[in-house]
Amino acid sequence: MMDLVLPQARRVAYTQTVTYEVITTSDLFHPDNPALLAVGRRLDARRFVVVDAAVEAYYGEAIRAYFDHHRIQTRIVSFPGGEENKTLEHYVRIVRELDAFPIYRRDEPILAIGGGVLTDLVGFVAASYRRGVPYVKVPTTLMGYIDASIGIKTGINFNSNKNRLGAFHPPRLVLLDKAFLKTLPRRHLLNGICEIVKLAVIKDAELFEWLESHGAESVEASFQNPVGEAILRRAIEDVLEELEPNLFEDDLERKMDFGHTFSYGLEAHHARHLLHGEAVLLDILLSSIIAQGRGLLTAVEVERLFCLIHTLGIELDYGVLTPALLWESLVERTYHRNGLQRAPIPQGIGQCVFVNDICPEEIERAVHSLKDWAVIRV
Ligand SMILES: NC(=O)c1ccc[n+]([C@@H]2O[C@H](COP(=O)([O-])OP(=O)(O)OC[C@H]3O[C@@H](n4cnc5c(N)ncnc54)[C@H](O)[C@@H]3O)[C@@H](O)[C@H]2O)c1
Repeated sequence: MMDLVLPQARRVAYTQTVTYEVITTSDLFHPDNPALLAVGRRLDARRFVVVDAAVEAYYGEAIRAYFDHHRIQTRIVSFPGGEENKTLEHYVRIVRELDAFPIYRRDEPILAIGGGVLTDLVGFVAASYRRGVPYVKVPTTLMGYIDASIGIKTGINFNSNKNRLGAFHPPRLVLLDKAFLKTLPRRHLLNGICEIVKLAVIKDAELFEWLESHGAESVEASFQNPVGEAILRRAIEDVLEELEPNLFEDDLERKMDFGHTFSYGLEAHHARHLLHGEAVLLDILLSSIIAQGRGLLTAVEVERLFCLIHTLGIELDYGVLTPALLWESLVERTYHRNGLQRAPIPQGIGQCVFVNDICPEEIERAVHSLKDWAVIRV
């Protein structure tokens, strides 16, 4: 962007370094595990804790016992997971609760324990309360573990648009304990694995092979098996590799946006029906068919992708794919991407290119081919 040079300008420039830790731990609520209190004051201290309601059912007692043991005064607020709760109303409710339980602005980080919906929403509370207070993320879903908790984006849905209000607000700490995945329903494990498929297709051919050979057994084992753990570690490393050099998205050509071009419209229109990862996976398949149409992926590579989805046991509803809605979503994304489509599509498995010239006819053709593929595979 060209800035005008104004006379008598006094430029203000300030640089802030962002640092935060991503730590793998186990037995998070064991009284001897100091991780939850690793940042912030511990003596004569308070913590505002927001916990996903499903997680509270399993761990509520352990969480209370943990803070009692450490003599920390807490306000523990239960929050219902699910995309339908990522709302302004819930945001306001949490802010009200927080305002009624004052915490020191710098020394008493908010603790967000839950899935991507909770960490996004509570992160936005932390970003906006007193213009920003520290927070710690503890992801309890696969989606959170390998994606939502790792970066610095926070937000809520607004006006039927996903994440329309939000902020970049780095956490002080991300605590990863894969034991949470043991209680996660299968559909939500598969929902998370869709984002791992995204990474594999767009940047990590070896991860794709791991998913082919060990993905299904890892889902079966809720990722508590050694190879499942290796897949998680690799996925997080891939995500950090993409996010770290472009934390505030100065560069709008982001590989991480693969699967997030058409999925926005799908999620917005089929909110009750589609999970985030499922919408992302439909987008991945559509984008891959578009790539095949452009000679960037071979039929064999597309077949491998479909086989992988089948092996993992993911079931998709292709009926939601209407060309007009997908085009609308792409147009909407061009505002987000500052005027260009900047749509990542695969170039072979493990690499990608960005394109700016997808047209409605190409989407329509891709939808037809995708539905044909789906019929053949059933
Ligand atoms: N900030 C980011 O960079 C980023 C990245 C990816 C996704 N996201 C966001 O993440 C959200 C989706 O996250 P999600 O899939 O975690 O959804 P979610 O937070 O709604 O959790 C899914 C379901 O699992 C339940 N749950 C959570 N932990 C559980 C556990 N350990 N055991 C049993 N049940 C449990 C929840 O109550 C909920 O019903 C979307 O809104 C998406 O936009 C954000």
